[in-house]
Amino acid sequence: KKGKLTFVLRSVSKLSEKEKVKKGKEANELRDWLGGEFEKKQLALQRKEIEEEEKKEWIDVTAPGTRIQEGHLHPLTHVQRQAQEIFQGMGFSVVQGPQIETEHYNFDALNIPKDHPARDLWDTFWLKNSKLLLRTHTSPVQVRYMESHQAPLRIVVPGRIFRYEATDASHEFDIMQLEGLVVGKDISVANFRAVIQEFYKRFFDKPVQIRLRPSYFPFVEPGFEVDMRWKQGDWMEMMGAGMVHPNVFKAVGYNPKNWQGFAFGMGLDRLAMMKYKIDDVRLLRSGDLRFLQQF
Ligand code: FA5
Repeated sequence: KKGKLTFVLRSVSKLSEKEKVKKGKEANELRDWLGGEFEKKQLALQRKEIEEEEKKEWIDVTAPGTRIQEGHLHPLTHVQRQAQEIFQGMGFSVVQGPQIETEHYNFDALNIPKDHPARDLWDTFWLKNSKLLLRTHTSPVQVRYMESHQAPLRIVVPGRIFRYEATDASHEFDIMQLEGLVVGKDISVANFRAVIQEFYKRFFDKPVQIRLRPSYFPFVEPGFEVDMRWKQGDWMEMMGAGMVHPNVFKAVGYNPKNWQGFAFGMGLDRLAMMKYKIDDVRLLRSGDLRFLQQF
């Protein structure tokens, strides 16, 4: 605005008519030309700026993307849900019980008398200054359920249990069990075998080799343990089981002459180990992401 051209344009009016036309035209042409040049230069500068920006922020559209991390269920949760669903498909109801138990439900009502050496089968975490304990198995829920329900019945009980014992590759102190209980008029060991064989077939999607070994649990008679064929021909102990002991029926007010049934308690951690070929149970609760992200 303070330039020479503006001065010329302003002074045109003071000139004679003839000069006015000539100088006015020249000055206008000069102004238009300068305006055009200015615009060209401005565009060129802008383009240069954009090009430099693009050089800095260059995007390689062919580069591989970064994978988004998705959350997922813990392998034990998967195993628990799948086991539950299979049993539900066979007509079982899913039932829960408390993790803090009394001696009565964890031991006495299960035919495990006080001061009897059988009690030592379950190394127990006792709560400080109280008679309560962390349940050592899911079997107390058998008693709780039968106390409040009539036979016939068919239930499974998934849940956490606790053992006061040293850990190794197949033993943890905080594990998951799934208890099963079937009571009816003429339930037999053959029924148990058929149910378990079918369960494993559905769970592993193929028939698996199992064996029943005689064993002792105070709350069943006869009692046995079920092993499953594991890698290199080894057997893994999967569950304890047996025919419900008459004393357990008596403890819940059932007449043992009218009812019989089978019960089992399987380790879900061991089931997860078999399913995913994990050779150390402690990995499941290690919280190690390198392990967990494989599922
Ligand atoms: C019991 O706990 C009985 N209540 C099972 C039972 C139920 C027997 C009903 C008869 C009738 P046991 O202590 O053997 O039994 O444990 C059962 C299963 O839980 C074992 O076969 C194993 O698969 C799993 N288990 C037990 N302790 C551990 C442990 N420390 N670490 C990993 N799995 C375990």
